[in-house]
Amino acid sequence: MLTDNHGRKINYLRLAVTDRCNLRCFYCMPEEGLNWLSRSELMSYEEMLRICSVLVKMGVDKIRITGGEPFVRKDIMSFLSELSRINGLDELTITTNGVLTAPHVSELKRIGVRSVNLSLDTLDAGRFFAITARDEFAAVMNTLDELLKYDIDVKINAVVMDGKNIEDIVPLVQMTRDLPVSVRFIEEMPFNGDGHIYSGLKWDYTRILEEIKTHFPGLRKTEDAPFSTSYNYHIPDHRGGVGIIAAYSRTFCGTCNRIRITPVGELKTCLYDGGGINVKELMRGGLASEDLQNNIINALHHRAKDGWEAERGRSVKDGVHESMATIGG
Ligand code: GTP
Ligand code: 5AD
Ligand code: SF4
Repeated sequence: MLTDNHGRKINYLRLAVTDRCNLRCFYCMPEEGLNWLSRSELMSYEEMLRICSVLVKMGVDKIRITGGEPFVRKDIMSFLSELSRINGLDELTITTNGVLTAPHVSELKRIGVRSVNLSLDTLDAGRFFAITARDEFAAVMNTLDELLKYDIDVKINAVVMDGKNIEDIVPLVQMTRDLPVSVRFIEEMPFNGDGHIYSGLKWDYTRILEEIKTHFPGLRKTEDAPFSTSYNYHIPDHRGGVGIIAAYSRTFCGTCNRIRITPVGELKTCLYDGGGINVKELMRGGLASEDLQNNIINALHHRAKDGWEAERGRSVKDGVHESMATIGG
C-alpha cells in the first residue's frame, strides 16, 4: 500500500494524456487556446503504460484519464484498451467533454469502463456556446445518451460561474428526476490559464447548496463514498443524485487518496502544488523501475497536508495561473 507523510492511503491516479482540447471553456483556458505542447514533450503511450504499471504494482487500483480532452489524442482507444489489461487495476475511468466520445462508448463498455464523468455546465445550447466558444452542445448530449444506453454510470460536472450559468442550476438538478445521473456542481477554481482574472469565489458550496434547497426543499443528504470529492444529496422520487464539489474551499484534503501525472510527466501530489518530480524525464534517463518507485515514494513523503499548504509552497511569481488542461483537473 502506498501512503504519504500524513498517513493517507494513495490508490488513485489521475493521468492527463494531452493538454489539447476542442472546447475553450471560460474557466479553463483563454479563447485563443494555449501554447500546445509538442509531441516530444508529451509522454508517449509506452511511457504512460510503464508508469501506470509501476504505480499499480505500488498500490494504485483506480486510474482516471483526463486531459485536455482525452479523445483528441490520436489512438486513445488502443491505449485505453492496453491500460485496461494491467493486472491489479480495478477501475479505469475517464473525464471527458463528450464532443468526440459517443462513437467510442460501446468499446469503452467492452474494455470494462464502468463510469464516465462528463463535463456539461449548461442545458442551453446558447449558453453552451457562450461558455465553451464552440457549437458542440448536440454532440455532448448525444454522448450522454450513448453512455446511458450502454449502462455506464455518469457523473455530470458543472462548474458554477457567476453571470454564466447560474440559471442552469435548477434545470440540471431537474434532470436527475428522469435520468439516473449524478449532477455535481463544482466551485470554480483559478486554473484558467489567465483567460480571465479570477476575482475570488462568488459561488461557494454553501451558496450553491442554498440555491438548490430553495428550489428543491425535499433535498436530503446521502452518505458520501469514502474519499468522495463531493457532498451528495438526493431528491425524493428522482432517479439520479446531486453533488457539490468544494474544489476551491478544499474541504476534502484530509482524505485525499489521489496523485496526478500531467501531460508532460510531472508527478503532482496536490492539484494546487507547483509540481514535483518528472517521471517522463526519469524514464527517459534510463532509471530502473525500482529507482522510479523510490523517487515516487520520496515525493509522497514530502506531500503538503492540504491544498492550502500546497498553494503556499508555490513561489509568488508562479502563482496559480496555469490552465486546468495542463494539469488534468
Ligand atoms: P470521482 O472519481 O468520480 O470521484 O471523480 P473526481 O471528482 O475525482 O474527478 P473529476 O475529474 O470528475 O473532477 C471533478 C472536479 O473535482 C474537477 O473540477 C476537479 O478539478 C476537482 N477535483 C478532483 N480532484 C480534486 C482534488 O484532489 N482537489 C481539488 N481541489 N479538486 C479536485
Ligand atoms: N474550476 C473548476 N473546475 C474546473 N474544471 C476545469 N477547469 C476548472 C476550473 N477552473 C473541471 C472540468 C472537468 C474537470 C476535470 O475539471 O469541468 O469536468
Ligand atoms: Fe477542454 Fe475540459 Fe478545459 Fe473545457 S475544461 S476547455 S473541455 S480541457
